[in-house]
Amino acid sequence: MPDTLKTESNQMLKELLIEELQDLLHAEGQLVAALPKMAEAAHHPKLKEAFLKHLQQTEGQVERLKTAFQLLGEKAQPKPCRAMTGLIEEGQETIEDGEGRSQIAADLALIAAAQKVEHYEISGYGTARSLARQIGERDVATLLAHTLGEEESSDFLLTELAKPLMQQASSGEAGADGKAARTRKQKV
Ligand SMILES: [Fe+2]
Repeated sequence: MPDTLKTESNQMLKELLIEELQDLLHAEGQLVAALPKMAEAAHHPKLKEAFLKHLQQTEGQVERLKTAFQLLGEKAQPKPCRAMTGLIEEGQETIEDGEGRSQIAADLALIAAAQKVEHYEISGYGTARSLARQIGERDVATLLAHTLGEEESSDFLLTELAKPLMQQASSGEAGADGKAARTRKQKV
C-alpha cells in the first residue's frame, strides 16, 4: 500500500480508537458514581469488598484513559455512553428489586448486573487495544491491555463469588444466616 494511503487508513483507525476511548471514559465515569451504591446494596462481605476494590480500580482506569489520550495528543473528552447509562439504570433497578428479595437472590442479581457491565467494558477495551496495536501505539495498547486484564479478572471473580451463593440457594438456604431472610420487606 502506498505510504499516503497507509497514513490515511491509520488516521481512520486512530479516529475509531479515540471514539472508543471517549465512550470508555464516559462509561468509567458513570461507574465511579454507581459502584458505591452497588457496594452498599451487597450483602455478602466478599461481594461488598469486590465492588469497593473495583471502585478503586475504576478510578485508576480513568487515569489510564487520560494518559492514553495524552499519548495520542488528544483531549480527554468523554462521549455519552448510552449503553453504560442503560446498564447502570438496570443496576439501580436491581438494587431496588433486591429490597424485596432474599439476601442471596439480591446478591446474585447484583452480580449479574455487574457482569453485564464488565462484559461491555471487556468488549470496549478489547477493541481499543487492538486498534492501538494496529496503528503502532504500543504504549497506549499496553495501558489498555492492563485495564482489560483488570476487567477480565473482575468478571472472573464475580463468577467465583456467585458459585457458593447459587449452591447455598439450591440447598435451600435463602439468607446469609441460613434463614429465608428478606432484606427489608418480610415475606407475609
Ligand atoms: Fe472499568
